[in-house]
Amino acid sequence: MPHFILVLILFLSTSIQASADDAIAMGKQLAFSQNKGNCLACHQIADGLMPGNIGPPLVRMKQRFQTKQQLQQQIWDASIKNPNTIMPPFGRNHLLTEQEIQMIVEFLWSL
Ligand code: HEC
Repeated sequence: MPHFILVLILFLSTSIQASADDAIAMGKQLAFSQNKGNCLACHQIADGLMPGNIGPPLVRMKQRFQTKQQLQQQIWDASIKNPNTIMPPFGRNHLLTEQEIQMIVEFLWSL
């Protein structure tokens, strides 16, 4: 294989990994931020200080949800699964944008 193609592949694969890492870091920031997700008000999350315990700890998300899509739906509108939930419908009520929710999903998926 020509040398420049190898270099190109190497470059592309490291930048894809970097942007995945960026999404996780930004998702964490959004989840922890008190004027964004404020998920720590109700959930224990690794690294999060002074969490609430109204909701279950957010751990091992890949075992709890089969797909990222299902996890996204839980955050978009928790009332789809449980009509009596007190978890705010972050997407339906425009508390977070679709893109912000996607980054939070990437973060939670990494837990
Ligand atoms: C006001 C409290 C509250 C806030 C704020 C909140 N949640 Fe929840 N969450 C809950 C409760 C309660 C449940 C339990 C399931 C239910 O009520 O339907 C839950 C369930 C979940 C679940 C499913 C967990 C599992 O193991 O089944 C996920 C994932 C989740 N929340 C993510 C989030 C994220 C991400 C945020 C922040 C963007 C957030 N929650 C903010 C109360 C909250």
